[in-house]
Amino acid sequence: MFNYVADFPNHRGRRLRNNFWIRDLVAENNISVNDLIWPIFLIEGKDKIEPINELPGVNRYTIDKLIEIASEAFELGIKCVALFPRTPANLKTQNCEESYNPENLVNKATRLLKKKIPDLGIMLDVALDPYNSLGHDGLVKGDKILNDETLEILIKQSLVQAESGADILGPSDMMDGRVKLIRENLEKNNFKNTLILSYSAKFSSGFYGPFRAAIGSSGNLKGDKKSYQLNYLNSNEALKDVALDLKEGADMVMVKPGMPYLDLCRQISDTFKVPTFAYQVSGEYAMLAQGIKNGIFDKKNILIETISCFKRAGCNGILTYYAYEIAKLLTNKDF
Ligand code: PBG
Repeated sequence: MFNYVADFPNHRGRRLRNNFWIRDLVAENNISVNDLIWPIFLIEGKDKIEPINELPGVNRYTIDKLIEIASEAFELGIKCVALFPRTPANLKTQNCEESYNPENLVNKATRLLKKKIPDLGIMLDVALDPYNSLGHDGLVKGDKILNDETLEILIKQSLVQAESGADILGPSDMMDGRVKLIRENLEKNNFKNTLILSYSAKFSSGFYGPFRAAIGSSGNLKGDKKSYQLNYLNSNEALKDVALDLKEGADMVMVKPGMPYLDLCRQISDTFKVPTFAYQVSGEYAMLAQGIKNGIFDKKNILIETISCFKRAGCNGILTYYAYEIAKLLTNKDF
């Protein structure tokens, strides 16, 4: 492959790495605030910012506080936030009715945020786990997670989210056929420009633990999500799911988790040539946060490096709980 490269010493690779200016000049990728989606957790109430033990540095915000923090993020250039609710326990049911309540936490927050910052993109998860007393992404019967019955609820949930003003819907439930039905229902109701960023390559992963604590679903969840999320031994199956989601009407696709699944980022962006995102998930955040806290990693360097890897692997953007801090680093040029 490199038979055109001169032999040493005519070729010295280090000439291109010798100074910061030449390194910058020949860099193959670049990161910017434009690449970041910031996931934010919400709680009911007023004037509260609640720390999350499992995710040191990440908080849950009441809607008034969300407006403040999202405004700051917007000022820094962040283009999109993804909202996740911690639903009060008394509103969680086996039929997940709260998921399509126009007054639920994420719908209320979306309406207000759209009013206050119309140009900030808002993404909402389409899945039942924050509303399910049994903690699963779908309806549960005995030891089974029901596919087609779940779809009927996801359709209602996604339409209400679009009506609230969500710009991007992220089906994260991994039920079969959901993108098709969600898309058809959006078109039928004249939501022609609502984007779907499908969690297409979503693996059944141990890295989601802190997220489940953050939305308060870990205590509810019985069993695991292996009958719907992908087996982490498989990549062909992930490519098939991406192909299907695109055919069903997804505009963009996601790989999740992120760092341990960079091979999928590369394969998907090479194969499909559509906007591809990676979700650096809660367990990845927690590992980095522990490493930084214990002095194992230098914070600035490790954050920029991990984000850069996603770009190198072909991703257009990254969902990360570090988005706000990275945006600060990038805008201050402070690294
Ligand atoms: C649920 C959902 C999960 C995440 C995003 N949406 C967890 C799961 O599938 O159990 C994980 C995000 C993270 O770990 O940061 N549909």
